[in-house]
Amino acid sequence: MKCVIGVLVLAFCATAYPNDLVPLGASTSYYVSTTKKSFIGAWINCKTGGMDLASVTTAAEQAELNTTVGSATGDGEGYWLGGVAENVSGDWYWSDSARRVIYTNWGTGQPRDYGSEGKGSCIRLGNFYGTSQPLLWQAVSCEYKLYFICKYTSS
Ligand SMILES: *[C@@H]1O[C@H](CO)[C@@H](O)[C@H](O)[C@H]1NC(C)=O
Ligand SMILES: *[C@@H]1O[C@H](CO)[C@@H](O)[C@H](O)[C@H]1NC(C)=O
Repeated sequence: MKCVIGVLVLAFCATAYPNDLVPLGASTSYYVSTTKKSFIGAWINCKTGGMDLASVTTAAEQAELNTTVGSATGDGEGYWLGGVAENVSGDWYWSDSARRVIYTNWGTGQPRDYGSEGKGSCIRLGNFYGTSQPLLWQAVSCEYKLYFICKYTSS
């Protein structure tokens, strides 16, 4: 009788990121989605991944985001940030803190009504009214499905 004992050990060591989120650029705090979702879907996805949709409260944060996003354009459609309002002329809030949007980085002519799907207004990074301004903000319908940027927030 012949016995062959074979032991094959395969070790896969890969970092698992939650909810199809992958690091954005070289950043350790910003993550970008690999799927497109509505604003609410994006918010849930960030939350269940232990993060929040990215807020931008200072020019320094916008500058960091500029550097991190670089020339990526979210498939030419931009990315959800965490800014939301009842309507374009209403008060804007960040979803992570529920604080008012004070610092702004709106594109030309923003915010203004744009699109016909659904109600409400959410901030996308990527202004496409008129000329493309990828790193500026635009108010668009929260129903749009876009890639989105999540950020770890230290509370
Ligand atoms: C981010 O990039 C946009 C587009 O180049 C620019 O208009 C904006 O001033 C930049 N913001 C900061 C804070 O560097
Ligand atoms: C827009 O939102 C504000 C609250 O931010 C509200 O007071 C106002 O009535 C809203 N306007 C319309 C037309 O719904």
